[in-house]
Amino acid sequence: MHGKSILLIIGGGIAAYKSLELIRRLSERGVKTRAILTKAGAEFVTPLSVSSLAGEKVFSDLFSLTDEAEMGHIELSRSADLVVVAPATADLMGKLAGGLANDLASTALLATDKPILMAPAMNVRMWESPSVRRSVEQLKKDGVLFVGPNDGEMACGEFGPGRMAEPLEIVAAIERALKIEGPLAGVRALVTAGPTREPVDPVRFLANHSSGKQGYAIADALARAGADTTLISGPVSLAPPTGVKLMRVTTAREMLAACESALPADVLVMAAAVADWRPDIAANSKIKKSTDRIVPLIKLVENPDILHTLAHGPQRPRLVIGFAAETDDVVENAVAKRARKGADWIIANDVSANLDGESVMGGEKNRIHLISETGTEDWPELSKSEVGSRLALRIADKLKGAA
Ligand code: PMT
Repeated sequence: MHGKSILLIIGGGIAAYKSLELIRRLSERGVKTRAILTKAGAEFVTPLSVSSLAGEKVFSDLFSLTDEAEMGHIELSRSADLVVVAPATADLMGKLAGGLANDLASTALLATDKPILMAPAMNVRMWESPSVRRSVEQLKKDGVLFVGPNDGEMACGEFGPGRMAEPLEIVAAIERALKIEGPLAGVRALVTAGPTREPVDPVRFLANHSSGKQGYAIADALARAGADTTLISGPVSLAPPTGVKLMRVTTAREMLAACESALPADVLVMAAAVADWRPDIAANSKIKKSTDRIVPLIKLVENPDILHTLAHGPQRPRLVIGFAAETDDVVENAVAKRARKGADWIIANDVSANLDGESVMGGEKNRIHLISETGTEDWPELSKSEVGSRLALRIADKLKGAA
């Protein structure tokens, strides 16, 4: 057991409710939380909910004799291995950047001799205002660490950067700061993402609408959880996640060859939307528009089934996870696909669903059903990065159980 602890400062913002899940997630990982709830923070979450989860009293008042008698504010600021501010408001960041201390939270921030991690949360215009930019720049120069904010729709209805990072992202940042090994340390993961492109001639190809976002988010989450992660990606326009080995491919046959070269692995996640067919011959020169009005026919041949091949191969990973992109009878079809492909788990997603005006393919969100040997779990609508984080934890639990 690592025996690490944090001091969590909960600022006043709608995202304060997420700090409750943060405490729970940290406690699952053996990280103890001592909390300071600011006066504004207490407008959003109650001291009772925070103390119930943290398992001890919440501190809130610099001038309380009881608080000071139990633990002086200087000792409080130094008793943990890391100080985390979530949500970090413009007010808390501005005070620390300017060296101000007029309440318990700002005093603890100035008095601490431990690293500080901020998870900012505010309206997008506030986040982009020159004064908040100045505070953030100054804090970064002073060595303060940051996680988020993320892009997304805010409680105020506006869209852009300002949403607090998700609890699991903050947990990963805390683990990095505390140098705690993630739950997937020592695990080798292989993830595929994006579409494949099957050439028709030098200028045309067959492909699909996959953006790669779901697969990249999974690779990112696995790497953050400590897995040695290789991502094999079809053509997409996404930046590679930090700490992930990226192999770029174009066709299904190249993707299969790249996967085989990256084995052995403990876990395979096939999130790529692989083309089932390809033109039997890719013409060497551009096919001309017919002058005699005969439409050229393209004959299709079947591509290798990568998931089926790897699930039945000599180097089968311990945990083989496929996706099922379905439009009808989503769970029934995915259950059949699990058996047909020889996967341990299938993640079914309804690619005809409309999630906040976007399709699953190409969009930011997903709603999945995890089909395993024990049945079907229906997950709520989540950001693709949250699907990745949750999946990484489920994979860690499964591999631990199977070890
Ligand atoms: O990329 P995004 O825009 O974020 O969208 C994500 C996604 C919708 C593409 C993703 O969540 C998803 O569903 N990926 C799988 C898409 C797919 O090809 O589904 P399928 O039902 O046709 O295939 C089933 C499984 O077999 C998949 O794991 C697929 O990778 C695999 N397969 C399919 C064909 C083939 N020739 N070889 C394969 O390995």
